[in-house]
Amino acid sequence: MLSEIKKLAKQYATSIIANRRHLHANPELSYEEYETAKFVAQKLKEIGITPTEGVAKTGLIAIIEGKNPTSKVVALRADMDALPIFEKNNVPYKSTKEGVMHACGHDVHTASLLGTAAILQQLKNTFEGTVKLIFQPGEEKIPGGASLMIKDGVLENPKPNNILGQHVMPLLPVGKIGFREGMYMASADEIYVTITGKGGHGAMPEFCIDPVVIMAHIITALQQIVSRHASPKIPSVLTFGKVLAQGATNIIPNEVYLEGTFRTLDEDWRTQAHIKMKKMAEGIAEAMGGHCDFDIRRGYPHLKNHPETTLKAKNAAIAYMGEENVVDLDIWMAAEDFAYYTQTVDACFYRLGTRNEEKGIISGVHTPTFDIDENALEIGAGLMAWLAISELEAK
Ligand code: NI
Repeated sequence: MLSEIKKLAKQYATSIIANRRHLHANPELSYEEYETAKFVAQKLKEIGITPTEGVAKTGLIAIIEGKNPTSKVVALRADMDALPIFEKNNVPYKSTKEGVMHACGHDVHTASLLGTAAILQQLKNTFEGTVKLIFQPGEEKIPGGASLMIKDGVLENPKPNNILGQHVMPLLPVGKIGFREGMYMASADEIYVTITGKGGHGAMPEFCIDPVVIMAHIITALQQIVSRHASPKIPSVLTFGKVLAQGATNIIPNEVYLEGTFRTLDEDWRTQAHIKMKKMAEGIAEAMGGHCDFDIRRGYPHLKNHPETTLKAKNAAIAYMGEENVVDLDIWMAAEDFAYYTQTVDACFYRLGTRNEEKGIISGVHTPTFDIDENALEIGAGLMAWLAISELEAK
């Protein structure tokens, strides 16, 4: 079976690359993946699979039934959305839409899953169980396409026993795959703060309430949420990346606006931290004679890989790739809406190496020069087919 899958992956590699290039050249922003969805539906139909379209508006679900289809169900997920970035790569498949770019590899995930579908469709008389293909919208934007797909019933009828998802990793050389059992990625919440004081002449602070000084105290004090309130055993990050004070050398502004992110790996602590941050910020502002509106928008939860499912996938990957090409990953404080699936289904989210220093392919995700070594596509598609079948056949 393994060598058969490798053979098929090699055979389909050209068409997987062509599909990826089409998607890369025609990116669509989160929740606007209409043409992408049409393309995916058409490609599935060409290989004899009729998907359910319009799930969570632009998502698709497709089923491949093997022998004894009710014995077990494994779901495979790809995300389809692009980012608001101007592509700076000079490649034949460069984005044709100004200001929109597949800079997080979701074109790779979608093309790869189409390749996996072709392989599994070809082999469906040889494995037991059912594979559920999930093409989801809106990974990059709250509330997350995954949560909308779940609301639309993607995890029912049939209910998957396991779910697998992959993501490109530009830090990992092409030919390598990364796994992590258990806690892997962080929850991510957005923070919006408005601090109001009383503006006036910079030379006469006694007639003003300076929101800039209040802001300075709040930013410094809130770092203690991470250093003094969080358990040292729970990773936490608090970053304020936007600070707007529209005064001047001689003008104290009326208000200051802040935006930030809070990330952690524990749901109880996450809730507590929100309450503590709000109380501290508002208390400091009041004490200094100003006012603070502290608004936290909850983003994705943390992502926890199911230890047994992940270990099985890792061992299957070792069989497929060789032990030297399967690496252990560290915790990563970025967020990913695949986390929603991991809350109710035994899940494994793993990384596909896409880096190639010799070819100069080194840029990180979410940058205008992000690209992949396309040899990763044959690996991504074949490996996922093999992991799905390995999980279906494991009792
Ligand atoms: Ni991504």
